[in-house]
Amino acid sequence: MIGFCGIPLAHRIVNGSGTFDAIAARRAFGDAIYERFPFAAFVSKTVTLEPRKGNPPPRLWELPGGLINSIGLPNKGLEGYLREDLPQLAELPVPLIVNVMGSTRDDVARLVAAFAEREEVAAIELNVSCPNVKTGLIMGADPRELAALLDRVRPHAAATPLIVKLTPNCASPAEIAAAAEQHGADAVSLVNTLRGMAMHPDRPGEPWLGGGTGGVSGPAIRAIALAQVREVRERVRLPIVGMGGVQSGRHAIDLRRAGADLVGVGTESFRDPLAGQRIADEASRAEEGFPANAARAAVVVRD
Ligand SMILES: Cc1cc2nc3c(=O)[nH]c(=O)nc-3n(C[C@H](O)[C@H](O)[C@H](O)COP(=O)(O)O)c2cc1C
Repeated sequence: MIGFCGIPLAHRIVNGSGTFDAIAARRAFGDAIYERFPFAAFVSKTVTLEPRKGNPPPRLWELPGGLINSIGLPNKGLEGYLREDLPQLAELPVPLIVNVMGSTRDDVARLVAAFAEREEVAAIELNVSCPNVKTGLIMGADPRELAALLDRVRPHAAATPLIVKLTPNCASPAEIAAAAEQHGADAVSLVNTLRGMAMHPDRPGEPWLGGGTGGVSGPAIRAIALAQVREVRERVRLPIVGMGGVQSGRHAIDLRRAGADLVGVGTESFRDPLAGQRIADEASRAEEGFPANAARAAVVVRD
């Protein structure tokens, strides 16, 4: 067992939010999926205060090295999630991390307060890729905006770890991570998707995706994830969940050596729904003799 923010985990591989539906997986694989759940913890898709329909179709564009998605965070909203999804997810054999997003600090505070009081929830991940409707700033792209957000929400989660999911679409993820650390975050996760677009094949100048732009994920962003994880590790002491294009144990080990404590698997689960377990097995076989703290020791950590 390893520990992450005080949560015992069987291994280091978790899912990226929104890329693995545990409830649908149980329908597809039956209860057997719970006997060998592919991830050491389950991270939910983003939950917002009110229900959201998501973006108009088309929502996906396949790239040679991954995907552009413009799903637009469809979800049942807080009440629907608490009523319908949480009871089912409480039966998971692994800790549950709920990912939340709001468009004001008060919205995020309400979400955090609601989940922090639920014993089924082991930790809360803040998706800060959304603009604050009051300030117009992307919450996770400006250190002062993120600091103000954490000052507002931290008191509502006295005993529940808060993970800030950093956006790669900003000038300096390390600077944002430092603000997260100084304002009470327990961990950071990165990378979220990188903004990208695809042109419509026969409507010149028009975007293909219904949302206009979307988020690039998969192998195409692996090198960027590695560089950003390393940069953040050099700046903060917080535990890091590193993700971006992981398809194999080798890739997971690389991210760990760059400074990640846990490794997230996202797009690869669309090709292989059991990828999480395969990657965990591959990494633990290859990691024999690779000391657990090698990544930390190999990197200069600021005091
Ligand atoms: C289809 C899809 C849906 C996603 N939904 C969410 C989401 O709801 N919340 C979130 O924080 N990240 C979301 N992500 C981002 C992933 O969790 C992850 O950060 C990103 O895809 C990079 O990892 P990967 O290259 O292994 O996919 C989504 C990614 C994809 C591809």
